[in-house]
Amino acid sequence: MPLKNDLILRAARGEKVERTPVWLMRQAGRILPEYRKVRAKMGGFKELVETPEFACEVTIQPVDILGVDAAIIFSDILVIPEAMGLPYQMIEAKGPWFEKTIKTANDIAQLKIATADDLHYVMDAIKLTKSGLNDRVPLIGFAGAPWTIFAYMIEGSGSKTFSQAKKFLYTQPILSHQLLQKITDSTINYLKGQISSGADMLQLFDSWAGVLSPEQYREFALKYISKICDAITEVPLTVFAKDAHFVRKDLGELNCNSIGLDWTMDIAESRELIGNTKTLQGNMDPCLLYADYTHIKQDTIKMLKSFGPQRHIANLGHGLYPDIDKDKVICFVETIKEFRF
Ligand code: CP3
Repeated sequence: MPLKNDLILRAARGEKVERTPVWLMRQAGRILPEYRKVRAKMGGFKELVETPEFACEVTIQPVDILGVDAAIIFSDILVIPEAMGLPYQMIEAKGPWFEKTIKTANDIAQLKIATADDLHYVMDAIKLTKSGLNDRVPLIGFAGAPWTIFAYMIEGSGSKTFSQAKKFLYTQPILSHQLLQKITDSTINYLKGQISSGADMLQLFDSWAGVLSPEQYREFALKYISKICDAITEVPLTVFAKDAHFVRKDLGELNCNSIGLDWTMDIAESRELIGNTKTLQGNMDPCLLYADYTHIKQDTIKMLKSFGPQRHIANLGHGLYPDIDKDKVICFVETIKEFRF
């Protein structure tokens, strides 16, 4: 069955759209009381991710409650290190933590290249969600970009600087490339599995792009993102490299459909650097949603006008914060859906 609302897919491919489509990073999650209710029934975040029925339920919630133009499968980028042999824990109020990390050549040799079967619970959640959505809106699948996954595998947790991961790049460049290649192969298998299970579009999250120098970014991050872009030909793909001002021109040359921008990136300047062959996604500061309604509407319309009527998918410049008022999020979404050029 064709999708009833395919605005996001058309915008990604550069086809004409009647209005700017919108979805939000972290749209499923703690801002919704309905999410918190499902989450409370579970032993923890991981149990929710690994139980397809519940992952499906929280994936569909924002489509019903916020009125967004796409769903994004409820999961985490850290399922890939786990499938490769490094299990993670999500520690309440602290974030991810890995018991084992990568230190030596032997640690890398022992990692397996993950297959879609290793992540059957994500595949099952995608299939269930596709049927639950009933073709109302597209379903977005995702993965972490290789550098960001590498950073967690070396560091073992979140970090302000990711200095251990960067130390590994400087002191063990050959091993770094071996590990990045294994992550890349796993990610391609995983994304292909998501497509076979029904994902209509994909996004790569390079959340820690901003800690690398331009030269390091090209050598250790972009090279592998590029391999993933070349491998994914079936559905549109967005690359979101947070804080990566310094490589926007290079991002424009990737074999993908759209590029995510954060709020620190000037819209006109980004368009100039990236060129006209890509759709741009973003880029409102999530903190705008702490402001009053008039302010939210004004700034949202200003953002829409700066991007222009075509080749734009409205979003935030990063994920929603858990304490943002749901009604403010609805105001942002409604302003975009009502606006006409
Ligand atoms: O709605 C969606 O966007 C889909 C679900 C999604 C989650 N994580 C669920 C989640 C997506 C796309 C992600 C990606 C992700 N995970 C990224 C890339 C995007 C980004 O934020 O830069 C990263 C770096 C991670 C790793 C991660 N997961 C961290 C650092 C944390 C802890 C911080 C936090 O926000 O709590 C998580 C936990 C996490 N992933 C939560 C959710 C809803 C919160 C946990 C909870 O509900 O208890």
